[in-house]
Amino acid sequence: MSDYRHIPSLRKYVQTRADKNIRELEESGGRWIKALSENRLNYEIDWLGVPVIQTPEDLVLMQELIFKVQPDFIIETGIAHGGGLVFYASLMELLGKGTVIGVDIEIRQHNREVIETHPLSSRIVLVEGDSTSKEVLQDVRRKIPGRSQVIVCLDSNHTKYHVLKELELYQSFIMPGGYFIVFDTVISRLAGPGNAEEKYINNSPKEAVDEFLQKNKSFEIDKSFNKLFVSCTPDGYLKRIR
Ligand SMILES: C[S@@+](CC[C@H](N)C(=O)[O-])C[C@H]1O[C@@H](n2cnc3c(N)ncnc32)[C@H](O)[C@@H]1O
Repeated sequence: MSDYRHIPSLRKYVQTRADKNIRELEESGGRWIKALSENRLNYEIDWLGVPVIQTPEDLVLMQELIFKVQPDFIIETGIAHGGGLVFYASLMELLGKGTVIGVDIEIRQHNREVIETHPLSSRIVLVEGDSTSKEVLQDVRRKIPGRSQVIVCLDSNHTKYHVLKELELYQSFIMPGGYFIVFDTVISRLAGPGNAEEKYINNSPKEAVDEFLQKNKSFEIDKSFNKLFVSCTPDGYLKRIR
């Protein structure tokens, strides 16, 4: 296992700006995310040869989070082609620890073959089924020993009902210091009458996060992960605080 803990933070020497023009950043970031999404630019990236459906900014932020938490396991619901799994596995390989568990309701054969024969496959476990089903939950639980530090990434069905159910079912995997990442909270800003995201009006991951946090005081939004202003996951990083 590689040990990065001796590396002192150089943050105090880095010349960031305290007086940022937040309004400009929010407006131009919002415009860019809308254009990016309408043109499906978040479908253009491969990570180590495998398509990953994320923005570059969100991938960089996930890298920071994984380095910070150094998790034993990452659970990702919603695999698609597998690029997210390979991305997390590549960072775990560099850190010298950790396994990624990917859950998808349908793992297509061409995707499965690429993931299972990828050089990082020893760090990836696949589970096929509905992420909220009893069988899948039991299967995932069996794979994770108690006291493991876990990050759970929710990127499957993006309706409020499904995401809320995932938040309720998967919270017990996360210890204090661990995180939920609720992807695509931005859909609530993009959804409008007549557009491609219409079905998500008041029915998106953002509404699921709001309802979950109203009842659940063990998690809070880690606003530091909003720092790039271009993200499909604004207010989507939920830290377990107790
Ligand atoms: C946005 S894609 C995932 C993208 C992937 N995380 C990445 O980084 O490239 C959504 C995936 O969720 C899966 N999915 C949809 N409903 C699901 C459910 N109820 N349980 C598990 N997976 C589901 C779909 O089959 C699809 O592959």
